[in-house]
Amino acid sequence: MTTRLPSTGASEIAAGPAATCRSDEVVVIHRLFRRLFAEAPDLVRDVAPGDTAHARYVAKHLHGIIALLHVHHRTEDEYFWDVMGERAPACGMHVALMRRQHGVVSDRLDVADAVVDRWARTADDALADRLAGDLDEIDRLLVEHLADEEREAFPVLDAILSDAEWDDIHKHARRHKPPLPIFVLLGLMIDSVPESERDAWFEKELPAPIRVAYRMVGRRQYERAIRRLRTDRTRAAVPATASAV
Ligand SMILES: [Fe+2]
Repeated sequence: MTTRLPSTGASEIAAGPAATCRSDEVVVIHRLFRRLFAEAPDLVRDVAPGDTAHARYVAKHLHGIIALLHVHHRTEDEYFWDVMGERAPACGMHVALMRRQHGVVSDRLDVADAVVDRWARTADDALADRLAGDLDEIDRLLVEHLADEEREAFPVLDAILSDAEWDDIHKHARRHKPPLPIFVLLGLMIDSVPESERDAWFEKELPAPIRVAYRMVGRRQYERAIRRLRTDRTRAAVPATASAV
């Protein structure tokens, strides 16, 4: 287990549970978000003008990933920042930064979400440009925020949250109905684990019945969905590799 120190305020963190690296579990989710939002602008740009059938399919995916990121950030807002402010008062600046970044990302997500259906109705060039630009900006903000959060907040949270509290957070997150088909979400998640760690992650993190179901039917559903979603260009940029599992 690695003990990481925050960049500021370490000495003023109130004594709490022993440091753990439970935040690594959130880093796996962050990898998924980095990947989803990095490819999102090109998914839009690659829809041929007027191809409303493809645009509607991409639109459904975009609504799903936007909702997923909202849920993720709301969970963090609910479980992280008040506790971090109370137990690590020296980290108040970072707490404020996290809240501010979440707010900015949330506003941009809502702006993009409102354009998605307008674009999908006609798949016209001008709205595609506008939407892809909005998604580029979300990607830029998110890359910055996730890096800041992993560097400035997670080491502190590892030090101040108990295992039981982390378990609670995961339980809470699992209560939400996923805004993407479950096997598609699982396949995207598996694909965002680095290839060298993927098999071990799959065996360790997923219960046996889920592993069996994914191998029997889930992976095929995921690959079918991805083939429909990505064009040759986006497929080359983000190869689907879940078949390695
Ligand atoms: Fe966050």
